[in-house]
Amino acid sequence: MSDAGGGGTTVVHGAAELVVGPRDGTPGDGRPLDVVEDGAFAAVDGEVVAVGPTAAVTREYPPENADAAVDASGRAVVPGFVDPHTHAVFAGDRSDEFAAKLRGKSYREILAEGGGILRTVRATRAASDDALVENLRGRLDAMLARGTTTVEVKSGYGLETETELRLLDAIDRANDEHPVDVVATFLGAHAVPEGRDPDDYVDEVVEEQLPAVADRGVAEFCDAFCEEGAFDVAQSRRVLEAGRERGLAPKVHAEELSHLGGTKLAAEVGATSADHLLYATDEDVAALVEAGTVPVLLPGTAFGLGADYADARAFLDAGASPALATDFNPNCHSLDMGFVQTLACVEMGLTPAESLRSATRNAALALGRDDGTGTLRPGAPADALVLDAPSYAHVAYRFDTSAVETVLKGGRPVVEGGEVLA
Ligand code: NIG
Ligand code: FE
Repeated sequence: MSDAGGGGTTVVHGAAELVVGPRDGTPGDGRPLDVVEDGAFAAVDGEVVAVGPTAAVTREYPPENADAAVDASGRAVVPGFVDPHTHAVFAGDRSDEFAAKLRGKSYREILAEGGGILRTVRATRAASDDALVENLRGRLDAMLARGTTTVEVKSGYGLETETELRLLDAIDRANDEHPVDVVATFLGAHAVPEGRDPDDYVDEVVEEQLPAVADRGVAEFCDAFCEEGAFDVAQSRRVLEAGRERGLAPKVHAEELSHLGGTKLAAEVGATSADHLLYATDEDVAALVEAGTVPVLLPGTAFGLGADYADARAFLDAGASPALATDFNPNCHSLDMGFVQTLACVEMGLTPAESLRSATRNAALALGRDDGTGTLRPGAPADALVLDAPSYAHVAYRFDTSAVETVLKGGRPVVEGGEVLA
């Protein structure tokens, strides 16, 4: 369908529907997307330079002169998905915990017995650097084939300086070698290592791990799991403030399994995002809106745990622009942002347009990307998906197959026919 192009000029034309990005207006105004029928966009050196009706775009950028041209007739074109919350670098297998959870064992009980995160930590510490990169690369391939063009990946399965650095190095290497843009988050405060006093471990994160991570320049964000059985508000605050002092923007795992106060903490420390929020109150939501912190909702986690979902409508009604993410990790083995959008529509009350906006532009903002990422407006990176369907509604409408046919990353075709190109 497309000529194999490198840099240079790319033209995608004739799209039955082309989603440019969010419309101006309030997030909950019911018209969340700008859509052009018989639409096209052109990109030069990886950046969108023109978007609009096919006739107008191709007059200026004729497809026959382009280095890569995609005839998208009968198909919808949407911005590449941004997945702003994953734990995709780890070793080992925890599929048996799925059965235990189905028998009624809780996530926190498993963790308290040394399973869950702590079990993945043991397997990850024992894995080689190459094995960690190889695991991550395979997952990035699967994500890209399903339309994710930018992804955040957290460390947090090392819980000691050496392995945390190895994980962040693996993320850095994958970012260099793989078409997907990978954004790194340091999550030394993911769990208290076995046999350690929590405050003593927080001292280590703040005094040893963080300085090493910051010196190496391998993380953009610093996250903390603010939860009973993990880190309380005071401990999380210490980590996040220390991270901020060293140039790492804060993110928080907040109100995932209980209400502890992580959302207000996120607002107070000026976090870029507060994530999970299943137990967030109206007051919490108002605090996020006031602080400009992006709420990140992860319906796959609730689905996998058989838990209640976050109230996405409450976030929209309060004037927030919620983002969606997979939370891919051994407890939530899903890397498909399309399925996340299905869940957001069916279980959290979003429309297909709202869920697409949450999985693209809002998700980019949850990573502090204010350069147009998650849109196809001029100046944005030319990260785009051609669907094998005439409407963007197919993204959320389908749930056992991906609607993504072709993926362009920086204007370059990297997936065709649903397969990652070598
Ligand atoms: O976002 N809650 C903490 N971290 C992950 C789970 C990680 C794991 O269970 O390995 C989450 O759900
Ligand atoms: Fe998480």
